[in-house]
Amino acid sequence: MSERPRVSVLGLGRMGTPIAVAFLDAGYETVVWNRSPGKTCGLAARGAIPAGTAAEAVAATSLVVAPLLDYAAVRETLGPAGSVLRGRTVVNLANTTPDQARDLAAWIGGHGGDYLDGAMMALPETVATDAGFFLYSGAEEAFTAHRAALEVMAPAHYFGDDPGSAEVHDLALLGTGYGALAGFLHAAALLRSAGTDPEVFAPLAARWLRGMADFLPELAREAGAGQYANGASTVDLNRAAVDSLIGLSRAGGIATDIHEPLQRLLHRRAADGHGADSFSSVFELLGPKPNSPLYEK
Ligand SMILES: NC(=O)c1ccc[n+]([C@@H]2O[C@H](COP(=O)([O-])OP(=O)(O)OC[C@H]3O[C@@H](n4cnc5c(N)ncnc54)[C@H](OP(=O)(O)O)[C@@H]3O)[C@@H](O)[C@H]2O)c1
Repeated sequence: MSERPRVSVLGLGRMGTPIAVAFLDAGYETVVWNRSPGKTCGLAARGAIPAGTAAEAVAATSLVVAPLLDYAAVRETLGPAGSVLRGRTVVNLANTTPDQARDLAAWIGGHGGDYLDGAMMALPETVATDAGFFLYSGAEEAFTAHRAALEVMAPAHYFGDDPGSAEVHDLALLGTGYGALAGFLHAAALLRSAGTDPEVFAPLAARWLRGMADFLPELAREAGAGQYANGASTVDLNRAAVDSLIGLSRAGGIATDIHEPLQRLLHRRAADGHGADSFSSVFELLGPKPNSPLYEK
């Protein structure tokens, strides 16, 4: 008979609790620890094994998943567990900066452990559903060895051995979303001033954004190749649209802060003689700049 797989979960907050539940539901022997006592009770009733200290939880299993609050919480929690990290894989799921992830990898590596950095593109209710996905980077062998366990929490995507890489991709995805969400809030303000309730507008905007998402592969192809001659939607066409949007907003007393940066970029492209190029050619003004510190390991 094969042994039950084992995992330790450090931190039982909004994300940690459904993660522990997912492991229990998947049949894992699940050791749980939380700084404030009390949060382990419900999980213990479902079969989890509460640990008295974080070090005890780390020592108990070869895979340690840590959905803690932030970098400081991870350092504080793992500090007293340094001597038992050897041979363990620690998966840090707290939001950290790329440099903090590299720092944690060095510290854990110095104690003989493997480090995986994880970024959770999910909400508490989408853990262990197809709606969420997690990004990983760091020790490749550890990722491969523990992939099945990681997939219990969410579909897993690996971005290479630089521990900071998952966090860079996390921020890139957040940035993509912020652009769309900020655009929606501007539109909602504009329409409310015209008498349309934001809640009436939201389903229409969601439908539009789904269509826009289908446009991403074309944008990616053009930006990746640096070829902008055959785009259906040109700089000039979109410059006129953004000018109109900003003009209408100003006339209605609506703030234009969100769209002005794009307007400036489109005008720069046109002034440089690229008005007939595809909208995606704005990419040429954004980088990445060679030798950017972001890409240094
Ligand atoms: N919630 C979301 O929708 C969501 C989605 C994606 C990613 N995230 C990221 O996931 C991480 C966890 O978020 P969350 O929403 O689960 O947070 P949360 O509900 O506030 O839980 C935070 C956890 O960290 C622990 N903690 C905080 N400071 C600590 C310290 N100094 N030492 C030891 N433990 C400490 C808390 O313990 P106590 O119970 O003792 O306070 C708790 O277990 C964050 O980095 C967040 O940005 C969250």
